[in-house]
Amino acid sequence: MSVTVRVPAKVNVQLGVGAARPDGFHGLANVFLAVGLYDEVTVTPADELRVTCAGPDAAHVPLDRSNLAARAALALAARRGIDPAVHLHIDKDIPVAGGMAGGSADGAGALLACDALWGTRASRAELLDICAELGSDVPFSLVGGAALGTGRGEVLTPLEVGGTFHWVFALAERGLSTPAVFREFDRLTAGRTVPEPAASQPVLDALAKGDAEALAAAVTNDLQPAALSLFPALCDTLAAGRAAGALATLVSGSGPTTAHLAPDRATADHIAAALRDSGTCRTVRVATAPAAGATVVS
Ligand code: C5P
Repeated sequence: MSVTVRVPAKVNVQLGVGAARPDGFHGLANVFLAVGLYDEVTVTPADELRVTCAGPDAAHVPLDRSNLAARAALALAARRGIDPAVHLHIDKDIPVAGGMAGGSADGAGALLACDALWGTRASRAELLDICAELGSDVPFSLVGGAALGTGRGEVLTPLEVGGTFHWVFALAERGLSTPAVFREFDRLTAGRTVPEPAASQPVLDALAKGDAEALAAAVTNDLQPAALSLFPALCDTLAAGRAAGALATLVSGSGPTTAHLAPDRATADHIAAALRDSGTCRTVRVATAPAAGATVVS
């Protein structure tokens, strides 16, 4: 017997970042949008806990207990006094260290899969609690759709989305470490007062209306200067997307994946081809949003 869960990637259409808190995390006003790029996590009973991974980025995925999928299984098992002897297999399509919550997706997926396999029937609230222990973006990977994330990103308020958004994602040659990007944010803002971040009403309105042009005018990412400072070549990728007709281009989360918003599917395909030909990225994916959160598929 095994259980497979499919989990979406995310892009932040607003990433408002405040000053570092005493615990080292930054207060956020974070508008998450789940996009139709997926990892699948399959859990099967085994002699001991182990993790395997397949996909183009598999070589960069840790297979030890630092993997969020393993940590999720261990967290649920510890709460319920269950032996966490399972094989977790990750079919990975979300870029690794890419700013699209790929690791978080695997944590949320493994948690839901183990809950189904073990029959633990944890409540939504308990699952979200465990997700928040695992990482700031993990609760959103569970719920999907669109949500405002406050606190360090883990306190979620679901948001309405009134239409489909077409995105092109340009995957970079190498990853960026999220803590390193936040450290660079601290360095770039040192000596300045960083205002308390607040949700952007124009972003929320554009999502609610399903209006891509309005969303393009409203998207912001306070981590973008830090990501570009650590990875200046991303400026060329953003410029290539703009030149090809993207309504907006931005760094996804802490990067280095760049997100290019298109008015429709045909333009998204055109932008994807132009980015592929531009030589400014490793590979390209087209995806729509919003996407459902973690879902048991078999
Ligand atoms: O929560 P998560 O483990 O994904 O965070 C990874 C790192 O990103 C943290 O250790 C911290 O350096 C940084 N971070 C932050 N503020 C947040 C979320 C993450 O500084 N709100």
